[in-house]
Amino acid sequence: MSDRVAAIVPAAGRGERLGPGTPKALRLLGGVPLLVHAVRNLAAARQVDLVVVAAPPDQVTEVRALLRDHHAGAALHVVAGGPTRIESVRAALAALPDEVAIVLVHDAARPLAPVELVDAVVARVRAGADAVVPGVQVTDTVKRVEGEVVVETVDRRPLRAIQTPQGFRRTVLEQAHLAALATGGDADVTDDGALVERAGHPVVVVPGAEEAFKVTRPLDLVLAEAVLQRRRAGGVR
Ligand code: CTP
Ligand code: MG
Repeated sequence: MSDRVAAIVPAAGRGERLGPGTPKALRLLGGVPLLVHAVRNLAAARQVDLVVVAAPPDQVTEVRALLRDHHAGAALHVVAGGPTRIESVRAALAALPDEVAIVLVHDAARPLAPVELVDAVVARVRAGADAVVPGVQVTDTVKRVEGEVVVETVDRRPLRAIQTPQGFRRTVLEQAHLAALATGGDADVTDDGALVERAGHPVVVVPGAEEAFKVTRPLDLVLAEAVLQRRRAGGVR
């Protein structure tokens, strides 16, 4: 039985919360685009055989050239992304070769996710889980608010902030995307785990990694620069 692992990288977003400019995946971190960091980290995981990037639709050729020298150890496909994250993932799913049995989905906007986390997610799928998402404890106090009034303070102990890479048995992820397409209403969905959950499959949480945080707002980029400097000083890369 074939059990190849592909990593899908949705990278077609504009990065509106980061502010005006180049699409977020192509913004620089330590002089290198976020997307290049993300692809390098995935390709560095020995388990990953293929990386499929969903690029901004008008920049497919540029992205292909950009990544040419950075996918050592894994094959690379670049496809045009869609208008939402889910549609970008769907476009990449459609490009997977038959022999792929396990699919990771990893945001280009999480450039510093450790290789160990990639390995841990794949290992949990291989061990039998249909869907695996990394989660970290929530550290802020969380309240439900209506208008300017607090209606509830939520017990944060059972809450987890969910990251990527997320890992799936391919058939489960494809079914979940098809089901979402059939029923519509996926505009507010921000991760693939949620689609699988809606389709009625169990989703397993493994410990996430602080450094797998998402670059969303300008301050996140400042933090990412600091983390990268510390890694480089430590000779990690
Ligand atoms: N993404 C994508 N296609 C889209 C929208 C998002 O591939 N149409 C990707 C982004 O490139 C990013 C990941 O999904 O790697 C997570 O999304 P997010 O952090 O929301 O990125 P953006 O949508 O680019 O940012 P913003 O929402 O601030 O515009
Ligand atoms: Mg977005």
